[in-house]
Amino acid sequence: MSCEILKDRIQKVLFSADVLHARIRELGREIARDYGTAHTAKARPPILVCVLHGAMIFMSDLMREIPIELEYDFICVSSYQDGTSPGAVRLIKDLDRPIEGRDVLIVEDIIDTGYTLHYLKRTLAARNPASLNFCTLIDKVIRREIPVDIDYVGFVLNQDEFIVGYGMDYAELYRNLPYIGVLKEDYL
Ligand code: PRP
Repeated sequence: MSCEILKDRIQKVLFSADVLHARIRELGREIARDYGTAHTAKARPPILVCVLHGAMIFMSDLMREIPIELEYDFICVSSYQDGTSPGAVRLIKDLDRPIEGRDVLIVEDIIDTGYTLHYLKRTLAARNPASLNFCTLIDKVIRREIPVDIDYVGFVLNQDEFIVGYGMDYAELYRNLPYIGVLKEDYL
């Protein structure tokens, strides 16, 4: 299936590849400035944590715009979809390495209700990192159900539209689109 076929399923592009990359470059500079000079565990580089699966593409572009020493790791969480426990999140894959005493930056593609971030904050803060911060490409504030603090935000989205692309999926498809768009209703 080529990207041209996928493109026909998109009703509008919200963030083009160029717009995404320009903003990610800015975010990378900001993060490099903050962690390169002021991070708390100076002896060791910060650890970027990619929240699988959606954040993979964002994180791989973002870290190449952060020209300082860094390490990275992966975590995978999932929300329960059965409707019986709204807001409940479970751990699918944990980090490979300890984070105690380390500066940790969690990288997300999108913050929606806020429950995932809330879970990650509670779970990872208990491991006593030196610092724990959050970065998201998209902050979908209109869907927030629990207040969360986000340290680095690519774009704020005030519309409640179902977006796909650049790592974000519908039924696991469309993650490989190089931009973020809204799916036509026929394909939802
Ligand atoms: C998305 C996104 C966040 C989460 C945010 O993941 O990557 O992890 O939803 O939603 P919340 O703020 O309502 O908790 P998703 O569950 O779609 O899985 P994926 O990353 O594998 O696509």
